[in-house]
Amino acid sequence: MKLNGKPALGVNGWALFASYANASKVLLYPPFEKGEIISKGLPLFEKARPERSRRERQGEICPSQLQNSLLSRANRKLCVLLVLGFSAVIGCQQKMADQPRYEPLTRSTLFGDERAARPLVEGTVARGQLRSDEHFYTGKQGGKLVDTFPFPVTPSTLARGEERFNIYCSPCHDRVGTGQGMIVRRGYRAPASFHMDRLRQAPAGYFFDVMTNGFGVMPDYAQQVHPEDRWAIVAYIRALQLSQHATLADVPEDQRRQLESKP
Ligand code: HEC
Repeated sequence: MKLNGKPALGVNGWALFASYANASKVLLYPPFEKGEIISKGLPLFEKARPERSRRERQGEICPSQLQNSLLSRANRKLCVLLVLGFSAVIGCQQKMADQPRYEPLTRSTLFGDERAARPLVEGTVARGQLRSDEHFYTGKQGGKLVDTFPFPVTPSTLARGEERFNIYCSPCHDRVGTGQGMIVRRGYRAPASFHMDRLRQAPAGYFFDVMTNGFGVMPDYAQQVHPEDRWAIVAYIRALQLSQHATLADVPEDQRRQLESKP
């Protein structure tokens, strides 16, 4: 079959074209069933197709190039349809990427208080923020300070505690905890030494509580140091206290000689 005297779309192209454009005007011969790709009609199309040129046969011109050069009106119609279809899809994507939304903390005209950032609904707790473990989050149980740790203390807990203590506490309490840190030497109020009896006997929860709520002129460290690290610091303070009051009897027997032999 020809259009404008030129060979038109291939068999599949025709089937497509017929279903898209003016299907009623196109004479399909022999009549095609819907969805059937024509094999009966093939000889008819074959006849209409011109001999492939020598250049085409040798692959110098690819068939699509040939088709481009032979774009018939019907083909153009199909192309326009396809381009319109694609641009509609692209248009949708841009719209989705460009949806109206609030920048953090911008003004809103929708809510009464004009804040886009919404406060928690009263009486609710954000997922993962239920602080039901009183021991872990307050250092207390039934309102009384505890002298135990909410999780087992390991060497890595102590190492973490040492690191955090040196960062957050030593500027005032100094690295050993005697309360002579650099800020104190420059005039800040001197805290009590962690090695005095009162603080050696103070329960572990006391240190946690001071870090969480502050004490006298000392600000709290609840924002800077999260609960797990606060407990690690408590463990390290306990190790510091032990370090200043240990006797040889506290050292395991097999390691005593090693200590004594050191200059
Ligand atoms: C900016 C200096 C400063 C820093 C940093 C600081 N403290 Fe203090 N801390 C003080 C001062 C000053 C006091 C005494 C406050 C008072 O008596 O008014 C104190 C008191 C304390 C007490 C109570 C002592 C008592 O007499 O009962 C504890 C426990 C304590 N600090 C622990 C810590 C820990 C743990 C950190 C690290 C997370 C820390 N502090 C960081 C200055 C500091």
